[in-house]
Amino acid sequence: MDLAERVGYLRRSLERHAYLYYVLDSPSISDTEYDLLFRELQELEELHPEFADPASPTKRIGSPPVAGFEQHRHLVGMLSLDNSFGREELETFDERVRRGLETEAAVEYYCELKFDGASLSLTYVDGVLTRATTRGDGTTGELVTDNAMTLRGVPFRTQAPLTGTYEVRGEVLMLKSVFDRLNQERAEKKLQLFANPRNAAAGGLRQLDSRLTAARSLSFFAYALGAFESPLARTQAELLAALKELGFATRTEPRVVLGIEAVWEFAEEIREKRSILPFGIDGVVIKVNDFARQQQLGNTSRGPRWAIAHKYPAEQAFTKLNRIFAQVGRTGAVTPVAELEPISVGGVTVSRATLHNYEDLRKKDVREGDTVIVQRAGDVIPEVVGPVLAERDPGAIVPDEPTVCPECDGALLRVSGEVALRCVNKACPAQIAAKLRHFVSRKAMDIEGLGEKLIDRFLEEGVLTDLASIYRLSEHADRLTELEKLGDKSIAKLIQNIEVSKTRPLDRFVFGLGIRHVGDRGAHELAVAFRTLATLRQCTYDSLIAVDDVGPRTALEVAEWFADDANQAMLDDLLSLGVDPVESDPPTSDLFEGKTLVFTGKLERFSREAAEAVVLQMGGKAAGSVSKNTTYVVAGPGAGSKLDKATQLGVPVLTEDEFLELIPEGSL
Ligand code: IVH
Repeated sequence: MDLAERVGYLRRSLERHAYLYYVLDSPSISDTEYDLLFRELQELEELHPEFADPASPTKRIGSPPVAGFEQHRHLVGMLSLDNSFGREELETFDERVRRGLETEAAVEYYCELKFDGASLSLTYVDGVLTRATTRGDGTTGELVTDNAMTLRGVPFRTQAPLTGTYEVRGEVLMLKSVFDRLNQERAEKKLQLFANPRNAAAGGLRQLDSRLTAARSLSFFAYALGAFESPLARTQAELLAALKELGFATRTEPRVVLGIEAVWEFAEEIREKRSILPFGIDGVVIKVNDFARQQQLGNTSRGPRWAIAHKYPAEQAFTKLNRIFAQVGRTGAVTPVAELEPISVGGVTVSRATLHNYEDLRKKDVREGDTVIVQRAGDVIPEVVGPVLAERDPGAIVPDEPTVCPECDGALLRVSGEVALRCVNKACPAQIAAKLRHFVSRKAMDIEGLGEKLIDRFLEEGVLTDLASIYRLSEHADRLTELEKLGDKSIAKLIQNIEVSKTRPLDRFVFGLGIRHVGDRGAHELAVAFRTLATLRQCTYDSLIAVDDVGPRTALEVAEWFADDANQAMLDDLLSLGVDPVESDPPTSDLFEGKTLVFTGKLERFSREAAEAVVLQMGGKAAGSVSKNTTYVVAGPGAGSKLDKATQLGVPVLTEDEFLELIPEGSL
């Protein structure tokens, strides 16, 4: 093979492998092998400028900067879409479509994802990418060809011949995993963080230096055609299949459905899956499938009459941050919490959001009085993403980091290697209240009726002082009735609930103790390994570390907890009051034997605990983090990094329904 042939060969195989990887999602060589081919081509091109080719795959890493972008007129305008928000508006759309088509019959719709990124038009002349233009005002956009050449899912040459001029339209996106990685790198370099993947993608597409675009590892997904020489298809479904054949990345979720009821089902199904998609979407796009019918319906000046964007509630919103206060948790961790002007995010009104820790707060430079971005995805705790610096009031106040505990004035300690500040006063009332709340919570001793307010009130009155005092409440029944004006009946009910909790399974009891690093799963492992409280009380570091899934950090915490005389005295006290945790039930089936499942995100039919209990009951393990030993990840809305990790490690991901299908009927 001579040099020219080798260069040609390398270019063809690199394009082919990029297609296999980004479009077909089935690479046939490793990343390293790809890198080696890529580097060889780079070196040959450097040594032999005579082989230069603007469409060489090496251009995917970007080229030197340009002074500004040229404007370019789209051959066919880029329309936008009408939005719909609820089921009714979708139905109105369907009625309008059927009126326009003069039909009573159910219409065939093509349902797609509404990618949350920036739209882009790619012009191919005789199958070669010659121009890429941003949407701009819909008529004229900016030429960003060099930048587009760095996008995954954009072929430089189409995989099949394509004679004449075609405009392929689609969306430029940043994958969530890329977004997380880049933001982590930016935080380390003290650079302003990207607010969301959409901004990172839209900004990336408009870099004057395409090497910077390349560094954002953006993706492109095709969804439409602008100008064309001859039609590629008769329907939208066929068009997407044809685009895929040509080498463009498309998605597998879209489908043809009949009638608006089925459209609604698709929209709901995707809404549930939203958080487990690898990129952001802000809804679904519904298109009349048949092109002849699309033409019959035509366009308004704004957008087509044959398509609609059905939008989901935004997962981010702007609001004013009024105050930052310090909250003390069960283990004494002091964390900053933002008090917000109430705002609807992800369909829920949010008035408080976490700022994680003081280091994070400083890094993000969030101040009282700032306008901030608030985020709530799935059922995760709302968080402040960061301030909108352009709207900062000069009077915005830099919050103080507490030097003493805000609740008890006790000393604060920063444990080395940890970011959390901790109140070290074991008698800190905020900590005791949090400990009590944890002990009685649903996953622990599950004492219904002993809520946050009652706990605070009983603490104030001194009838509650520590965990054991819960089991002395019955001694003060008369006083309790007086205190809270609770009826005799509700007091009797509360006392009965407390009584019943005395024989909860050991794992719940251990979880309720609130030992650091011991979550519900860890507590279960300990309960299974030690079987009784009496043996667990004798544990040593060595006996703990021998337990499956107990690491050195947890072993140390647990050993220290049980070595503490005050804790042992409290256990004695609890036992003397009749608390007698029972051994956890043995498994009833071996369905999940040897299998480890991780649940992440929100589940619709189960609580996470109930789902985990099912796995344990059926002989399996429920773990808190994903590793190569994980058998399945069951992901629901709100899933984030665990899902990314599963994808990275190739661990199969199931939806809640798929998980349920594993379980034989009648065995739940
Ligand atoms: S079709 C004439 N399909 O939404 C129809 N657009 O609100 C043109 N978008 O500017 C668009 N996902 O940036 C279409 N599957 C999809 C889409 C999609 C996202 C964006 C696109 C467009 C905007 C309109």
